[in-house]
Amino acid sequence: MNRAIILGTGSCLPKRVLTNSELEKMVDTSDEWITVRTGIKERRIAGPGEETSKLAAEAARRALKTADLAAEDIGLIIVGTMTCEKAMPSCACLVQKELGASNAFAMDINAACSGFLYGMDVAEKYIKADPSIKVLVIGAENLSARTNWEDRGTCILFGDGAGAVVMTGAEGDRGVLASRLFSDGSLWHLLHMDAAPSLNPELVADDYQGPYIRMAGQEVFKYAVRAMQDGVAKVLEQEKIDPDSISLVIPHQANIRILNSLTDRLGIDSEKIYINVHKYGNTSAASMPIALDEANRAGRLQSGDLVLFCAFGGGFTWGASVLRW
Ligand code: ACO
Repeated sequence: MNRAIILGTGSCLPKRVLTNSELEKMVDTSDEWITVRTGIKERRIAGPGEETSKLAAEAARRALKTADLAAEDIGLIIVGTMTCEKAMPSCACLVQKELGASNAFAMDINAACSGFLYGMDVAEKYIKADPSIKVLVIGAENLSARTNWEDRGTCILFGDGAGAVVMTGAEGDRGVLASRLFSDGSLWHLLHMDAAPSLNPELVADDYQGPYIRMAGQEVFKYAVRAMQDGVAKVLEQEKIDPDSISLVIPHQANIRILNSLTDRLGIDSEKIYINVHKYGNTSAASMPIALDEANRAGRLQSGDLVLFCAFGGGFTWGASVLRW
């Protein structure tokens, strides 16, 4: 049977590190509060030359290198993002230009923190239709550009970065075994970010407060844990996979308490959950491919391993997938 496999991974983080102690000087917070409530110690902040599309392109170059492929081999580029430096063209088109991937078509997916998971799912569908196609799936964000640095409830959480994978089709047992996506737009107001205000004065919302990420933290927390648990249960049930047989979990890195609650509910050994939220904070769509690339480079993935992915984000959007490495 033909399945969608991952040929290579890559990631790219901005150079500038913003620590909790630096945040203590910016808002009324403390390293202890941030560490206990979120597990985050530091995050990366993009500077000149590290715009979303530039980080995405560098992560993609590194993924192409590990896959031993050239940019011209790529047939499709998908970028999960909600913070590209341009509203048009798509970040994927900017990446195409940066790479010189002249044989690809390119598109973005906005599913907030689930953007990479959604991207892998879409890639899998194209690969099923044409197993020879090589697809770049990227998650890239510049959340620092959309953070209200005076709001201590959100500014401590987010960071910038990008991660990428190259996928294609292969005969055999390896590859994506199951993938399930979900959305609930009725809950959009719990986690959202306004676009730039309309230039038509009649359409500017009365409550427009700036293009920042806003959220109801406790509600998001509860939904995130329940929804990811449900998504994981559905993919494991579908493939009749025992949670004990999972080798590694690559979850969206939102915060350590969400990950700990999820781990308790899934009944998967906590050592199998890959965690790097302490280093990068929540990088939304970029968090899973960055974690996957780190795990790959650290030798945490062996051929035949079952790898579980799960994500949750604004929309709400969520889901899970399972892949044999
Ligand atoms: N430093 C110090 N105190 C703070 C800070 C801060 N940075 N932020 C809020 N507080 C205060 C509040 O003002 C409040 O004070 P009060 O009791 O005097 O009113 C107190 O701390 C408790 O505030 P809560 O909002 O109830 O704190 P909570 O324990 O819920 O933690 C947090 C907040 C960390 C945001 C938590 O709700 C959370 O993790 N939510 C999940 C949100 C998330 O991860 N969103 C990311 C996007 S979605 C995703 O990626 C899955």
